[in-house]
Amino acid sequence: RRTYDLVIAANRLPVDRVSTPEGSVWRRSPGGLVTAMDSVMSDREGAWVGWAGEPGEAPAPFADKGMWLHPVALSAEEIQLYYEGFSNDTLWPIYHDVIVPARFHRAWWQAYERVNQRFAEQICEVAAPGAKVWVHDYQLQLVPALVRRLRPDVRIGWFDHIPFPPVELFAQLPWRAQILEGLLGADYLGFQRVADAQNFVRACRRLIGATTKGETVTVADEAGQRVVRASAVPISIDYRGLERLAKEPAVQERAEEIRHSLGDPGVVLLGVDRLDYTKGIRHRLKAYEELLEDGVISPPDVTFVQVATPSRERVEAYKELRTEVERTVGRINGTHSAIGSPAVHYLHQSYPREEMAALFQAADVMLVTPLRDGMNLVAKEYVTCRHDDGGALVLSEFTGAYHELHQAFVCNPHDIEGLKQTIVRAVRTDESSRRRYMRALRRRVADHDVQRWADRFLTNLEQAPQRPGTAT
Ligand code: G6P
Repeated sequence: RRTYDLVIAANRLPVDRVSTPEGSVWRRSPGGLVTAMDSVMSDREGAWVGWAGEPGEAPAPFADKGMWLHPVALSAEEIQLYYEGFSNDTLWPIYHDVIVPARFHRAWWQAYERVNQRFAEQICEVAAPGAKVWVHDYQLQLVPALVRRLRPDVRIGWFDHIPFPPVELFAQLPWRAQILEGLLGADYLGFQRVADAQNFVRACRRLIGATTKGETVTVADEAGQRVVRASAVPISIDYRGLERLAKEPAVQERAEEIRHSLGDPGVVLLGVDRLDYTKGIRHRLKAYEELLEDGVISPPDVTFVQVATPSRERVEAYKELRTEVERTVGRINGTHSAIGSPAVHYLHQSYPREEMAALFQAADVMLVTPLRDGMNLVAKEYVTCRHDDGGALVLSEFTGAYHELHQAFVCNPHDIEGLKQTIVRAVRTDESSRRRYMRALRRRVADHDVQRWADRFLTNLEQAPQRPGTAT
């Protein structure tokens, strides 16, 4: 069997099964991580271990665009317990400031352990001697230690795409020690923000009594003492690829067509999110509704387009959010729309990249208002698509992106009055200042693209100290 020098492991494989008249085929999925890793793998030979998105037996491994895809099987019950349950109803809320309460079930945890073990075994099957294994995200936090036990020869890195919570919140987890020990199986741990890496190191010190110094945690295991490094390497996007797409004549024509379909309003406000309670969609709608009520803005001069991609639809908190968002949109439209000019265009759908690039160019103000978000790649995608230096970005200070995109119109989404003022300021700021801000934002993303992120992560992994005293 073939083995690989670089093995990526993430909950999902980078493909979705779609049905066509010729039968079902695999198609590259449009998610942020997928686009990110695509450009990493394009100049390296590697394998990707992940779930194919459907219950039951795993499809046989197959090659796709220069990558070897190695599907992991999840039964319908495991999807419920490990994915919807422990990953998205226990960990996700705890790691996002407990915006909704976290639910704890021992059966969910047991399924999480079982599935992480299966991932670890499949990783070890495809990893060449001395390979680099790059594990992604909160669904696979036990994998680093499990892989190390099976394969002490490989280098193990883990990247956290979401926030790492403050110790006071993390401490709620009944399995907090097992999770920290799972992560400490890695040589190197990457986080979005400095604060996330610090939260992790602090949790190791306070909750499992580990010895820590700066960015490092010392671990004692059968092989003696090891040092694990935890630091910030914020993720990014394929700037050049997306900018090229946004510049395509067909995409620009489509942007004009979208504005025209919206009735050529003076101002188009835009939100683009997975339909998730972390994204601050309710707060955004509230601020918009109040601005309409105050008469500060009114359709048809202004319209608001909210794309809310369906997500985790069987998890209770997501069902409740959808009901609430749809009720609010209905109320706003009922009161403030006129025939042919709705106050809110609500789209509970997902769109191809070309359409998103056009939509970004059609929008005057992009509203990125999460209550907590590891990075928020939509903010980076928006500025990347604005090669005309037009548009304005309203950005929550509770995103990872806030720590990089300094020229955005910053908001605290909990402060509705402040959010309203920020939106108005973004609309009214003179054009030359807005263009200057946009140019600076674009430069930041251009200089810190996904390739640079991946290179930094892999360099940190290579240089990670293996023994005390060798820290770099
Ligand atoms: C976030 C997580 C990813 C996850 C994505 C989509 O970005 O960090 O790990 O894949 O959301 O969520 P889903 O549950 O559909 O995979």
